[in-house]
Amino acid sequence: MDCEQLWKESSVFIGTTRFDKAESVNNILVTGGAGFIASWVVRHLALQYPHYNVVCFDKLDYCASLNNINYVDANCNNFTFVKGDITNSEQVLAVLHDHNIDTIFHLAAQSHVDLSFGCGSFEFTSVNVYGTHVVLESAKEYGMITKFIHVSTDEVYGEVKPQETDLLESAILSPTNPYAATKAAADMLVNAYYKSFKLPVTIVRCNNVYGPHQFPEKIIPKFICLLRSNRKCVVHGDGTNSRRYLYAGDAVDALDTVLHKGEKGKIYNIGTTDEISNINLSKLLLFKMGINEVDFDKYIEHTVDRPFNDRRYAIDASRLKVLGWKQKTNLSDGLDTTISWYTKFGLAWWGDISDVLQAFPLIGHTERNVS
Ligand SMILES: NC(=O)c1ccc[n+]([C@@H]2O[C@H](COP(=O)([O-])OP(=O)(O)OC[C@H]3O[C@@H](n4cnc5c(N)ncnc54)[C@H](O)[C@@H]3O)[C@@H](O)[C@H]2O)c1
Repeated sequence: MDCEQLWKESSVFIGTTRFDKAESVNNILVTGGAGFIASWVVRHLALQYPHYNVVCFDKLDYCASLNNINYVDANCNNFTFVKGDITNSEQVLAVLHDHNIDTIFHLAAQSHVDLSFGCGSFEFTSVNVYGTHVVLESAKEYGMITKFIHVSTDEVYGEVKPQETDLLESAILSPTNPYAATKAAADMLVNAYYKSFKLPVTIVRCNNVYGPHQFPEKIIPKFICLLRSNRKCVVHGDGTNSRRYLYAGDAVDALDTVLHKGEKGKIYNIGTTDEISNINLSKLLLFKMGINEVDFDKYIEHTVDRPFNDRRYAIDASRLKVLGWKQKTNLSDGLDTTISWYTKFGLAWWGDISDVLQAFPLIGHTERNVS
């Protein structure tokens, strides 16, 4: 199947919410819009709100795909793609002016925690901290922004012990890995631009998000693609660390709710209680992909753990729920949709990802260890 055929055959995944037009919102810039979550945002806004203009600004890094936005590019008059880099203030200022932007959804980032432990770590500071600073400063200088929604992560709070209660937005930030530290630093800058310059910012902090359109480097799409390629799922450490997983459609509904009902200067946790350990998630994927429980060991291999691996994250999303948001897709149903999408498109959507997959052992061969 060629690329054009691919996106034509995929369902068009968007959220479910649709609010009355917000008075101050006309022209929305979505940074990182060809990536996973932001492409859901782009498609949702362009299709649910024909009266908003949506501009996707993305440098098309390795994890992005024009396939993620081709549907709206071909079918929506209110959509524009601009290739650009958030660390380049000239490019950011130009896109703000050229499209009379009044609203910013800021999602562009280096988002893969594992890579932030490695030699590409500086790129996380460059994009997530400096890039966010450039977007903030450009928005300030431009002077016409009425809403600026910054998308952050539950990881900025650091780990939450098993018996601890879910964290509110007021919890102290205590990130433990380089990715989370850069996101926390970005949150600080966003808050500083609110206090110092009255930039109308709102921060959201989200659990792990999964669903169709995610580059297969994160656990759920990666393991589905590995299994489809007859390769083993390689689990960090003993796999008992747990995470909470939110389906992308629910994440987009939350972002849409914050756009239309959120308050400036506020932080909103976007969270679910669908929590599962990495090892149990792996087993659930195996089960859902039709593999017999007695054979699970053949499909799972353990490798050295991350230098530090938070046991779990747990955030309380009550403040967001007061705005009317609720989770609609549970983990089991979301995984079914995700498995079915990756089974059909996963190995071709990003072009040739065989080099990514080939780093993992074939099922039945155990001689290679993978970190
Ligand atoms: N995926 C998750 O589970 C999750 C959870 C909580 C928060 N977040 C946050 O949500 C946002 C989106 O995450 P994602 O997983 O969808 O990311 P992703 O890695 O799929 O996409 C990131 C996008 O940003 C673009 N980008 C990177 N550097 C850029 C630059 N310098 N200029 C312009 N564009 C650039 C990439 O090309 C890509 O399209 C990130 O800010 C991330 O920290 C993600």
